[in-house]
Amino acid sequence: MFFKKSIIALTGLFLCIFLIVHLSANCILLLPKDIARDLYNSYSTTLRESLFIKIIAYVLYLSILLHVVYALLITLRNRKAKSQHYSINNFRENSSWASQNMGLLGVIILLFILVHLANFWARIKLGIGENIGLDANGHVNVYEVTYGLFQNIYFVMFYTVLMIPLGLHLNHGLKSAFMTLGFYHKKGLRILAKTSLIYATIMTVGFGIIPFILFFK
Ligand code: HEM
Repeated sequence: MFFKKSIIALTGLFLCIFLIVHLSANCILLLPKDIARDLYNSYSTTLRESLFIKIIAYVLYLSILLHVVYALLITLRNRKAKSQHYSINNFRENSSWASQNMGLLGVIILLFILVHLANFWARIKLGIGENIGLDANGHVNVYEVTYGLFQNIYFVMFYTVLMIPLGLHLNHGLKSAFMTLGFYHKKGLRILAKTSLIYATIMTVGFGIIPFILFFK
């Protein structure tokens, strides 16, 4: 049980770091259009061509897989045993709606990720779907793919609304991960709760607002 929870915690923390990097890179999209196109496309090309980033990307896919599989195993086991969730953690927030519905929130996020990968990753990395043109510098025009997707209000709504379950999942998940790994300092837990809330809010608002800004750009 502790092994499974540690895997969920460690992979979850890695995914939290990925989201910080991903959101920071996506902030390029908010710059004036010409600058954003050049920067975003060259950033994206650099990532795809770097061996180091390729290895990190495989670690990322493996982390998502392990996080989902072990979370599923724990959720099923908890359901079956009808025992308390997170028996080690007695933190007050454990009784919050999010803490009791991490499985449901996780499934919603997984569905989001699958649609998201179909929108971008499958097109850009696997070349599935409509051909993507090159920009003036000869880079694959990932900016146009992103900008084009968010000219569709349904995708804007999809990306924005689903950042709410993401935020709820991150807020509880970040606290939980540290506690699973043995972080119990009383004052530290209060700081951790605040940090998790700030982190989750930045991710929700940041990822949620970008599609809207691109829609009106
Ligand atoms: C405004 C919101 C977002 C935008 C505009 C965006 C954009 C992109 C783009 C353009 C790519 C492909 C990058 C490339 O291959 O060059 C990508 C990949 C990816 N995104 Fe997002 N993303 C957003 C939000 C999210 C969120 C919220 C998550 C996770 C919950 C996420 C997870 C991923 C993953 C796992 C990949 C694959 C990474 C890889 O293969 O290296 N994205 N995203």
